[in-house]
Amino acid sequence: MVEKTPIAILISGRGSNMMALLEACAQPDYPARVALVLSNKPDAPGLDIARKFGIETSFVDHKSYGRDREAHERDINQILEKTGVKIVCLAGYMRVLTPYLVTKWSGRMLNIHPSLLPAFPGLHTHEAALKAGVKEHGCTIHLVTPGVDEGPILAQAKVPVFENDTADDLAQRVLVQEHRLYPETLARFITEKRS
Ligand code: GRF
Repeated sequence: MVEKTPIAILISGRGSNMMALLEACAQPDYPARVALVLSNKPDAPGLDIARKFGIETSFVDHKSYGRDREAHERDINQILEKTGVKIVCLAGYMRVLTPYLVTKWSGRMLNIHPSLLPAFPGLHTHEAALKAGVKEHGCTIHLVTPGVDEGPILAQAKVPVFENDTADDLAQRVLVQEHRLYPETLARFITEKRS
């Protein structure tokens, strides 16, 4: 049996990347297991999916904290530490983190971003790519640092941009790559960290 590192996945929405990670983690030879799925939104559809998988879930509703982002993150961190996870994977977690949580998980927190960083950080990446007229687009897995979408890049996957693409076409094409790249990169990251 392969050693399985406990991870947490942080989500805000539908959780299709979470699902890809859950499926990978269900494989006996995959080096991680999902110990927790946590959302900042109590009604994130991904939470229900995770529950159906029998995964422990939690939510910390950011709305209860007003402007105190750090207080929100302190409560998230407490849950992460209590659960004993070693790595945190952001997967469609739509809150910008403060240095508090980023520093706590420095070198142990990964994010997936739907563009070929450093191109198109932030939101609406597919629209931005179309507007810029690029011929290639894609996704990036990176370590999380205090600057938004700025951390060291672990892996990227490219897709072509076709002439009549809409933002939705592009999002779909990139998403297929996201679902392949995240599990693959996490496995490599863990294995390299161990050696
Ligand atoms: C993905 O495109 C991811 O790259 C971005 O937000 C989207 C989340 O989708 N950060 P899902 O919740 O994983 O389906």
